[in-house]
Amino acid sequence: MEIKREVILAPMAGYTHSAFRRLCRSLGADRVYSELMNATGIIHRGEEKELIYFTDEERPIHLQLYGRNPEEIAEAAVKVVEKYRPEAVDINFGCSVKKVLKAKAAGYLLQFPKEMGEIVEETVKALKPYNTPVTAKIRLGFYEDTLEEIAENLLKAGVSAIALHPRLAKQGFSGKADWKRVKDLKAIAGDVPVIGSGDIKSWREIDEKFEETGCDGVMVGRAAVSNPWIFTEYREKREIQVSLAERIDFILKELNLMWEFFEKEKACKAIKAQISQLFKGIRGKARLNDAVMRSKSCRELIEKLEEIKFLSGG
Ligand SMILES: Cc1cc2nc3c(=O)[nH]c(=O)nc-3n(C[C@H](O)[C@H](O)[C@H](O)COP(=O)(O)O)c2cc1C
Repeated sequence: MEIKREVILAPMAGYTHSAFRRLCRSLGADRVYSELMNATGIIHRGEEKELIYFTDEERPIHLQLYGRNPEEIAEAAVKVVEKYRPEAVDINFGCSVKKVLKAKAAGYLLQFPKEMGEIVEETVKALKPYNTPVTAKIRLGFYEDTLEEIAENLLKAGVSAIALHPRLAKQGFSGKADWKRVKDLKAIAGDVPVIGSGDIKSWREIDEKFEETGCDGVMVGRAAVSNPWIFTEYREKREIQVSLAERIDFILKELNLMWEFFEKEKACKAIKAQISQLFKGIRGKARLNDAVMRSKSCRELIEKLEEIKFLSGG
């Protein structure tokens, strides 16, 4: 698959649903990923609309799956590809939250590079008739850095792109992402595109990572939640000041899009986590946040946001 100097919205459970992805694509993100979805759940209970829903404006999109064994992941992959035709299916080998580790899936599998290869191989085989590539998102290892062994197994299995968050799974988000390892991966991946992910905070850092590592894609995660304009900043090579009123307009737009696939009140609850991020760096943030967080319904939330916008002069 071809990926050339792309800036990509990183998958983030709870944040990167269809509404946010669409807005980020319109602001300049080149590619998006869904958040991780459980393969067993997809096979036995069907897809969850809030997670699987996407529109053509979001393409290219990778639908991300996680699971325990090759057969299940391959079966779930076929199911979502037949129905939704994403540009790629991505397999999550990075997440290490308790629930996922207990299921011996995702980040847990970093301890078993051979099994990671088997999962990719089986999924590649299953998706061949659909011409849909399989990509993987990984970390350096679980307790120790075994990147070379992991990469070798994935490449042998026919992976079409690898996204690396260069931390150990046991680190969670502590310490710093080691982008030297993205460069190392690029050196062994041959023609397979390599995407780096971790700690990007500004458009300048995106440029730096492309230059320093030679990678094919740079993902932006947490920084995009508080500043989705980072994608435009990168394209225009300049910082953009976004007013409080513009930030509120963004939230209202996002909410409207969320209602296509989210129950109304649930969407209003879900968006609160992002609102506090979007208010980062705004004067009087604590007070604004407090007012928004206390709202008990969509009506109250929207009234509050409109009042704050009005008072800010927007
Ligand atoms: C709240 C949150 C949820 C995440 N969910 C996922 C996920 O569903 N799938 C995945 O591959 N990575 C997930 N990640 C990891 C990010 O994609 C990314 O690799 C990581 O946050 C480092 O990049 P950043 O420093 O730009 O945020 C998540 C990260 C955060 C903060």
